[in-house]
Amino acid sequence: MATAPSDALDERQTAPTAEEQRLIAEATLLEPAVHKHPRAFYTAMRKLDPVHYDEKLEMYLISRWEDIQTIQRDPITYSVDHGYHNQQAKGFAEEFRRILEEQGGGYFPDAIMSDPPYHTRIRRLLEKAFTAHRVKELEPRIAKVVEDLIESIADKGAMDAVQDFAIPLTTRIICEQLGLDWDMKDRIQRWSTAVTAQIGRMQNREEMLGHAREICDLQQYLIAKMHEREADPREDMISDIVHAKDGEGEEAVLAFGEAVSLIRALLIAGNETTATALGNLVFILCTQPDIAETLRKSADDDRLLNRFVEELLRIEPPVRALSRMTTREVELDGTLLPEGAHLLLMYASANDQPDVFESPRTFDIERKNMVKHVSFGGGVHKCVGLALARMEIKVAARELVRRLGDFRLAIDPEDIRYLPTVATRTMESLPITFTRRS
Ligand code: HEM
Repeated sequence: MATAPSDALDERQTAPTAEEQRLIAEATLLEPAVHKHPRAFYTAMRKLDPVHYDEKLEMYLISRWEDIQTIQRDPITYSVDHGYHNQQAKGFAEEFRRILEEQGGGYFPDAIMSDPPYHTRIRRLLEKAFTAHRVKELEPRIAKVVEDLIESIADKGAMDAVQDFAIPLTTRIICEQLGLDWDMKDRIQRWSTAVTAQIGRMQNREEMLGHAREICDLQQYLIAKMHEREADPREDMISDIVHAKDGEGEEAVLAFGEAVSLIRALLIAGNETTATALGNLVFILCTQPDIAETLRKSADDDRLLNRFVEELLRIEPPVRALSRMTTREVELDGTLLPEGAHLLLMYASANDQPDVFESPRTFDIERKNMVKHVSFGGGVHKCVGLALARMEIKVAARELVRRLGDFRLAIDPEDIRYLPTVATRTMESLPITFTRRS
């Protein structure tokens, strides 16, 4: 698909509209309407206030691509550790911690959500369990899971693309990778919601209590699996993590709590993000037939398919925003941030910036610089699971258009509901109709 001529290369050169000024003065990411249709707010921020303080959220929203690069290059000034753990169960942190200690086998802070040099050690040990090598070997197995799932629904003519396709698919694959029991879709979905809600800033106390119960159940389950693999290692990631070793001495292996937190992180990060990407894929197939056609034409060409996946991730990033906290006073894009300032990196806004991505709303699989998207983050925290994610999305996209066609929404797009979190933009459900092609 050709790139359309750029309408506004540097949007800051265009005069702000009254609506953009209103959004800067009044809007908050916590408003469901803004969460649902965030692009106008992103544009307003990039143009008028790129380091924008959202008073309701009590966070600075970082909307421009180059500012996100600056932050990713300096993981000490812009701390994940402080940003993430300060966010945990915000408002209920003590009570949340106590419940996990008493009923969940322990409170295990996310070891990967940390800063160098501690993060460097953890990341190296995690990567040992997570190599591109393992993912490549997995392609035929992923293809089989995808084919079986599509074949089981192909004659039905209708499905919920989130509940019947995206979630079962990513759940089966991550369970297989980690070495968990098959078909735990409902349980993993509840666990994912519970864990994601802890950084989402949209839960009340009653919800926090329910989520804490789920996280206890998750940890008890994982701890039992880890004990099994300690005694009897297998070809799976739990075994790799439990037995990971990098050098000699105490630091060369993961402490028990670190290992629990890493397995928990992989299960959640690997599930909801990729399922969100698959939901976005199906939504686009239903609503933009020209893109569905582009995909059909690309299905037998690995290069084009890979580009399709990358452009999909750029135009609809599953992870919308993740947090950092400043560890010292620092100036960013003309704004002086105090020590302890809480930031949200708005990945979706950066991917939409017209002077970085020409005509950013055009889905262009020949886009020259699509790899500059920040959907997998960047710097030392760049997504460790990106090879697996790309593979899953690629195989799913290919098999969907090979086997099914005539995708249509069975719901008004305005009726789509999203999970209550600012971290991702995840559809709860997506009823569609389709036909079988072969
Ligand atoms: C389309 C799917 C995915 C997307 C969009 C995505 C996105 C991201 C992003 C944006 C980050 C950076 C976080 C930051 O800047 O703080 C990240 C980190 C991470 N991702 Fe993914 N991810 C995906 C799939 C996966 C999968 C399949 C796994 C594992 C099975 C995974 C595991 C992780 C982990 C452990 C980190 C933390 C890395 C670190 O801090 O060193 N992700 N991901």
